[in-house]
Amino acid sequence: MIQLAQSVNREMELELKAKVIKGAGLGKKYGFPTINLKPLVNTEHTPPGIYICAIFINKQKYNGVMHCGPKSIGSNDINKIYFEVHIFDFNQNIYGKNVIIHLLKKIREVRKFKDVNALIRQIKNDIKFTKKYFNA
Ligand SMILES: Cc1cc2nc3c(=O)[nH]c(=O)nc-3n(C[C@H](O)[C@H](O)[C@H](O)COP(=O)(O)O)c2cc1C
Repeated sequence: MIQLAQSVNREMELELKAKVIKGAGLGKKYGFPTINLKPLVNTEHTPPGIYICAIFINKQKYNGVMHCGPKSIGSNDINKIYFEVHIFDFNQNIYGKNVIIHLLKKIREVRKFKDVNALIRQIKNDIKFTKKYFNA
């Protein structure tokens, strides 16, 4: 993970290079499709959390919101760290592609959910919050 900048308005920016891999597809079913990522750099010191991010795919820049950390729903390994991005206005199949993500701002910690509906409600809020950030 490379630290990019520490500007006046923004928190520390981190850059993550990763490959798009196939996920379980639950996000799509719940109404927030995500791309699942396998990091190509050391992520040992990346703090888990939910981040506002920019993602570069084929040199095109998109906005999105990223989950970095364990998953309480759809995973049977509570220690595994997942990297997933919900990208705004994007619906292409990019399995196998390498992408670059800039983590712009951490918006919250990862929470434990027992109930899928509570998770979906929280993610919808994250998406709303992130869209406001970009339109502000
Ligand atoms: C913006 C965002 C926030 C998320 N926050 C959490 C969270 O707080 N706790 C959690 O267990 N999973 C969280 N997730 C992960 C979801 O559980 C995961 O995306 C979902 O299970 C679908 O995964 P799949 O598409 O790989 O099957 C978040 C995902 C996104 C995109």
